[in-house]
Amino acid sequence: MIDRLRTDDTPDARSGWRSRLAALGVLLSCTAAMGSALAQSPPKPDWGPADMPPQDGRIFLVTGGTSGMGYEDAKALAAAGARVVIAARNPQRGEEAIERIRRDVPAAQVRFEAVDLADLSSVRALAQRLRTALPRLDGLINNAAIMAPPERGTSADGLEMQFATNYAGHFVLTAELLPLLRKSDAPRVVTLSSIAVHRGSIDFDDLQSARAYDPYGAYAQSKLACLMFAFELQRRSETEGWGIRSIAAHPGVAVTELIERGPGVDSEFGRNWSRDRDSYHSAAQGALPTLYAATAPDAQAGAYYGPTGENERRGPLGLAAVPPAARDAEAAARLWTVTEEITGTRFSSRVH
Ligand SMILES: NC(=O)c1ccc[n+]([C@@H]2O[C@H](COP(=O)([O-])OP(=O)(O)OC[C@H]3O[C@@H](n4cnc5c(N)ncnc54)[C@H](OP(=O)(O)O)[C@@H]3O)[C@@H](O)[C@H]2O)c1
Repeated sequence: MIDRLRTDDTPDARSGWRSRLAALGVLLSCTAAMGSALAQSPPKPDWGPADMPPQDGRIFLVTGGTSGMGYEDAKALAAAGARVVIAARNPQRGEEAIERIRRDVPAAQVRFEAVDLADLSSVRALAQRLRTALPRLDGLINNAAIMAPPERGTSADGLEMQFATNYAGHFVLTAELLPLLRKSDAPRVVTLSSIAVHRGSIDFDDLQSARAYDPYGAYAQSKLACLMFAFELQRRSETEGWGIRSIAAHPGVAVTELIERGPGVDSEFGRNWSRDRDSYHSAAQGALPTLYAATAPDAQAGAYYGPTGENERRGPLGLAAVPPAARDAEAAARLWTVTEEITGTRFSSRVH
């Protein structure tokens, strides 16, 4: 592109240069934020499931596929021909989700695997089962989450519950599935973040909110950790030659079970949320950034996709704003190391 700018010197081309240079500036600032070598171009704003390339033969794991966005991810991927494994805690909810998917997509190849992301032995057991059962994994969608339980809870491993479920469980799952992902010719890992990251920070002195627990602060921290993880995974994939395309996505605000099962619809947050719920995305709309990241040929390594309207609460698909904290590659590397220590899990470059 730079060579063409130097040699093409007509007036039309010169005005074209200016807009191209301006666009390049925007793209490079996004790229620098994530440390990826590629400039990022925004997706087609009206991209939808009809634009998804056939996924026949591709194998996906969707965490939290029993409701909300994860369910919609699983359904859309199955409709495009993919083999989909839904992983969540409750087998009955799993069976119900599969039944609902099959009503709309009778030929869906979808199955359920039980996992509790807030119990690292359960995460490791799932990864072990998948390594035995699957020839490879083409896409991992780190989607499951809980939001702002009013009281501080702890996971089986003693971690704060949101940090454990939303972030640390997915960190370990990705590490444990790395050998299976590396058997794919084009593996992708999509990690869900949130507009809440703009209020988030990583408190390295109290990562587990043991000294002070703010339900929304802990949620924002966990989702910021997810975003930093997605970018750091891409950087490490490039350095280590893992061949993974790591991409982050967020849904805007979507009507799902997240509030009901977190702070509750009767909480102050829930009441405010309920007042505006007609203006939010459906779960199917909220799933589009993830589905784009997981399947679009143009989805770029190290990018962050989400809706672009109303401070990214809803609207057409595009590149999401990256908060300064998520651009801090040093902090991301530190968080990675700390998480390895806390979880006793390292990403190994071994394929088997
Ligand atoms: N909804 C929004 O407006 C919004 C906004 C920003 C970001 N997000 C993000 O979008 C993603 C999807 O959320 P959603 O809104 O679709 O929520 P949801 O409807 O509540 O779905 C959450 C899913 O996570 C699973 N899950 C929860 N805890 C788990 C655990 N310990 N182990 C395994 N699975 C677990 C649940 O399954 P079981 O209960 O069956 O285990 C469920 O399938 C999350 O990452 C969330 O942070 C949502």
